Amino acid sequence: MASTAPVGVFDSGLGGISVVRQIVRDMPHEHVLYFGDSANAPYGIKTPEQVRELSLAIAERFVRQGVKAIVVACNTATSAAVNDLRERYDIPIIGMEPALKVACDAGHGTRQRVIVAATPLTLRERKFAALMDRFKEQHTIYREPCPDLVEIVESGRLGDHDLVMRTLHGYFDRYDLDAIDSVVLGCTHFVFYRDYFRELLPPTAAIIDGNEGTVRHLGVVLESLGRLAPDDAVGGVELANSDPSPRIAALSRELLAYGR
Ligand code: DGL
Repeated sequence: MASTAPVGVFDSGLGGISVVRQIVRDMPHEHVLYFGDSANAPYGIKTPEQVRELSLAIAERFVRQGVKAIVVACNTATSAAVNDLRERYDIPIIGMEPALKVACDAGHGTRQRVIVAATPLTLRERKFAALMDRFKEQHTIYREPCPDLVEIVESGRLGDHDLVMRTLHGYFDRYDLDAIDSVVLGCTHFVFYRDYFRELLPPTAAIIDGNEGTVRHLGVVLESLGRLAPDDAVGGVELANSDPSPRIAALSRELLAYGR
């Protein structure tokens, strides 16, 4: 497989574009094919079987397009489908999970109080239960499903400050936020809310997402296989979506440029 082959990145919708932005930043020579499944979003309230089936169909499309690796830029699809994808394909499949380890390690041995914000499916799945088991004795971990935050991005209302803050207060006002050490953004859609979370949380609470770690991991895996794009390759991003409307295409381009 040529090192100049593209990397396939997918999500239930537009959230994975936050991961693409990180790839563009950290691995600018890579050619990225993005597929958002907005016609079927959200995945977070579907059954694991439904999400598995949708994920396999997207991976099949990428393989036909000749990608050298697939990034499952969706915590939800990773919990439901990553094992099946790895069994089926012999290219690297990079999954994502809420960055709970990063949040807990930040305390250097002291007890951390961590809120994990993710989709209902991610927080319900075995994969997350196994992750929790590693940390729940030594740390206090709260699970907060936030499905509305996916909808707000998909419907293009991320810029509606009042709506977003009202929604965040609805989820987080029941916590004593002054006593929280960190909030983990365990859904790629939520990464777009970083500034809103900053406004909600006291300065002492860290906001942690897994995008940087995921992209670092992609780099390490490609390098180990000799498949990193060469320095003279011109990288780029092609955005595709199962929802063919011009609204989604425009929103995708907007999110790719968001916060730059
Ligand atoms: N962006 C996805 C994630 O990282 C899921 C959003 C959805 O529910 O569709 O979990």
